[in-house]
Amino acid sequence: MSEKFDFLVIGSGGAGLSYALRVAAFGSVAIITKKDKAESNTNYAQGGLASVLDENDRFEDHIEDTLIAGAGLCHPEVVDMVVRSGPDVVHELLDWGARFTSKDGKLDLGREGGHSKQRIVHAADRTGKEIESALLTAAEKHSNIRVFEHHFALELITEHHLGKKVTRYDTDTHCFGAYVFDTRSGRVEAIFSRATLIATGGVGQVYLHTTNPSIATGDGIAMAFRAKARVANMEFMQFHPTTLHIPEANSFLISEAVRGKGAILRGRDGSAFMAGYDDRAELAPRDIVARSIDNYLKKTGEECVYLDVTHIDNDTIINHFPHITETCRLYGIDITRDWIPVVPAAHYLCGGVITDMEARTFIHGLFCAGEVAFTGLHGANRLASNSLLEAIVFSKRAAEQSVSYIRDVRWNTEVPEWDDSGTVNSEEEILISHNKQELQQVMWNYVGIVRSDLRLERAFRRTRFLYEETEDYYHRTKVSVPLCELRNLIANAYMIIRSAMSRKESRGLHYTTDYPQTVESENHDTII
Ligand code: FAD
Ligand code: SIN
Repeated sequence: MSEKFDFLVIGSGGAGLSYALRVAAFGSVAIITKKDKAESNTNYAQGGLASVLDENDRFEDHIEDTLIAGAGLCHPEVVDMVVRSGPDVVHELLDWGARFTSKDGKLDLGREGGHSKQRIVHAADRTGKEIESALLTAAEKHSNIRVFEHHFALELITEHHLGKKVTRYDTDTHCFGAYVFDTRSGRVEAIFSRATLIATGGVGQVYLHTTNPSIATGDGIAMAFRAKARVANMEFMQFHPTTLHIPEANSFLISEAVRGKGAILRGRDGSAFMAGYDDRAELAPRDIVARSIDNYLKKTGEECVYLDVTHIDNDTIINHFPHITETCRLYGIDITRDWIPVVPAAHYLCGGVITDMEARTFIHGLFCAGEVAFTGLHGANRLASNSLLEAIVFSKRAAEQSVSYIRDVRWNTEVPEWDDSGTVNSEEEILISHNKQELQQVMWNYVGIVRSDLRLERAFRRTRFLYEETEDYYHRTKVSVPLCELRNLIANAYMIIRSAMSRKESRGLHYTTDYPQTVESENHDTII
């Protein structure tokens, strides 16, 4: 079974939905998404979207803050373009129906770590949910857009499926769509497209503790890599400094905007320890705050640190952070009176599939936008609230390019049907979940906030073993989502570890005790 669309969008987060809305005037659009349509990292974003809108702010300041956080690896022309596109993006989101928090008739602008000015557009502390639901509502009203829930993209279709050998150095590889697994019917079908956007988000699930929901398994990066696209800067995994330290809370995020409102990080003894690590204290960029907490915990032997907002006016806290207030209350913490126990957790991948300024990959007809992409914006460390901005800016450029690309391109439907002959149904689901847990534990223990050669080598050996075992199982077994996700997670882990091993310095999010200094000659991207 197969279907044909002008545009295929893989993923229904901010990047995928905004792209779909823009291209829908030019042809038919299929959005495939592996779970319920709203389930995405976008839906959980709290703090907001950074944009220069205040009269006391300037594009130059946002550019400088982004470059400082990025520790020498940002691509300046990309930073310039993205920052200057910010106000248009905010207005576009408002036009699509997003309702952001305002005060005295103007957008209320918050502050987060690494930002020198108030510039975070937000919808209280559930900005992502507001954006996701506005975009979904608009997409569902559009007659050219069809959303396929519970459809899992397995592989991109390229010349490889026509029997041609494709290498990473070819310049004439094309994407013709994707093989997609309908998880309800159990069938794999080909969806053919003239242009394809990967908008599958990040890979937080490769770590034991993460703010990311379960969809974040790096499928798009792994799929693109297998199709021979190029990937970069995978060593730069961002750990968010403050997630709720209560096992049942699943690393629930305590937004950086809370520190932006004046929250203080304290040790159990009440000491405000951040000032001893950085002059910017609680508002230092995220890599510095996360590493400081990690160091403080190792030094003191304590399990967590505390975020204290008890000195801030109660109404301010409750009005700005109703979701955080309520979630903490469910776990018995009244944040107006109690300190919030927090620890860092994996949050955001700065690397990904290499795209140019127009969101094009090295494969013709294949575009990437959002967390899956490496655009050069974030460098070695993403500035808070720059990712929703990046996702919407690059989906616009991808849309413009896709519309012009399809003018000269027909469908290629010659590829064979998905071949699963010789495979059997999985009878060992438990092995898959054990291997996933093992991988997450290895990544957490050895490829976390602080790394070393010894730890990375150990992680590499363990991951290699998991890879061989899983590949063998994959080739004997009919596809299932847990198995495909595990395979993709292992591919991402491999790329993260190899990239980390190759960087012989510490920079931004990558810190290793063997090379604690930043080295000028290492001032380059890590391209796989
Ligand atoms: P996502 O929103 O993650 O969407 C990915 C989509 O792809 C999902 O629909 C998923 O189901 C689908 N998908 C994945 N794999 C497949 C597959 N194989 N087949 C089919 N579908 C697939 N950033 C900010 O700028 N500001 C913030 O305040 C902020 N807060 C955050 C808070 C939390 C808790 C988290 C987790 C992230 C936060 N971020 C924030 C980061 C930001 O939310 C994400 O980087 C951004 O939303 C990514 O958008 P996206 O469209 O690229 O991916
Ligand atoms: C947060 O609200 O702290 C998350 C912001 C981000 O990840 O950009």
